[in-house]
Amino acid sequence: MPQLSDRVQTFTDSVIRRMTRINDAQEDSINLSQGFPDFDPPKEITDALAEVAKKGPHQYSITFGAKNFREAVARKQGKAIGRTIDPEKEIVVTCGGTEAMMSAMMTICNPGDKVIVFSPFYENYGADAILSGADPIYVPLVPPDFHFDREVLEDAFQQKVKAIIICNPSNPCGKVFTREELEFIGSLAVKYDAFVVTDEVYEHIVYDPYKHIHMAQLPGMYERTITCNSLSKTYSITGWRLGYLIGPEKVIESAKKVHDFLTVGAAAPLQEAAVVGLNFGEEYYEQLKNIYTKKRDFFVKGLDEIGLKHTVPQGSYFILIDISDFLAMPQFTGWSDLKFCEWMIEHYGVAAVPGSSFFREPVNHLIRLHFAREEKTLKEALRRLGEMAKQLNCL
Ligand SMILES: Cc1ncc(COP(=O)(O)O)c(C=O)c1O
Repeated sequence: MPQLSDRVQTFTDSVIRRMTRINDAQEDSINLSQGFPDFDPPKEITDALAEVAKKGPHQYSITFGAKNFREAVARKQGKAIGRTIDPEKEIVVTCGGTEAMMSAMMTICNPGDKVIVFSPFYENYGADAILSGADPIYVPLVPPDFHFDREVLEDAFQQKVKAIIICNPSNPCGKVFTREELEFIGSLAVKYDAFVVTDEVYEHIVYDPYKHIHMAQLPGMYERTITCNSLSKTYSITGWRLGYLIGPEKVIESAKKVHDFLTVGAAAPLQEAAVVGLNFGEEYYEQLKNIYTKKRDFFVKGLDEIGLKHTVPQGSYFILIDISDFLAMPQFTGWSDLKFCEWMIEHYGVAAVPGSSFFREPVNHLIRLHFAREEKTLKEALRRLGEMAKQLNCL
């Protein structure tokens, strides 16, 4: 058989999605690994989908997105960033935020271009960089508050970088970048003439008192910012694969070509049905925030009662749990976080993602859980985690 490309030898399959498969192979295991809700999308959206099934459209939409979908995105996001967004020239509708990020990277990167990535990072960015030929430069977000060192960041910018990728709110650490931090990053992007690629799929899952600031809303930043966004998390429709890119006309003109040849377009019937969600008023997003705030508080309280050490997210729905106390026990000597997660599924029926898949640094003591689950499911997951801690008797 002829050789496969060198490219595909340099990254593994997604550990996040692999953990879901391992979870699903085990009866009655609770999947807190891959982040998606177990509750229904808003009824208005599913009702619209039922209508679309009868009325269509069922054929291709315009490759860079159905006109009414783009117009709805332009209205919603234009209001959020305080400027008029041209739905013809400044938006590409993609197959999820995943394709948005890949298209952005392929649009701006030549092989060998350097791109700054904060660590911990969302797993996909590593593969996005490899597939687009970029070389990541990792800048640590330092626990416990996941701040970055301004000098370290400027040193990275000095290495002639093409872009910086920001995940805000951040998966997996739950950081919400402050206005001051974003202004500082923006000032470096201007100083060193780099793009900012910002992944804002959790923009509406931000807990009080934190506030989401869009990089594109900061003075002078729209011109160099490419925003990757998605409907997956905001409307609980991760399976619909709807996302979009927003950016300056010149970037979007090229991104449209990349997107067209990658996928032709996002599913037309689903775009049509999702417009109703994009047109929701502020109260929808307030309610979403309240739902997740309740879940976060419930889950955090439960983890505290068990005695597990963990992060408390400012945004997104992920929590990193410190498993050092477990790994220090004789029966786990030499274990990786991956092995621990596999063991946890097999013995306690709770799936997590090994933290090492998010860090550049050699981290082996963290696992990531999400809480986008019904309260009864979270309660049962907490019971199982409590059982595990008790039986191991280490807390
Ligand atoms: C930070 C981040 N970006 C992008 C995505 C992917 O979003 P989509 O489902 O729209 O492809 C995820 C999914 O978990 C995510 O956590």
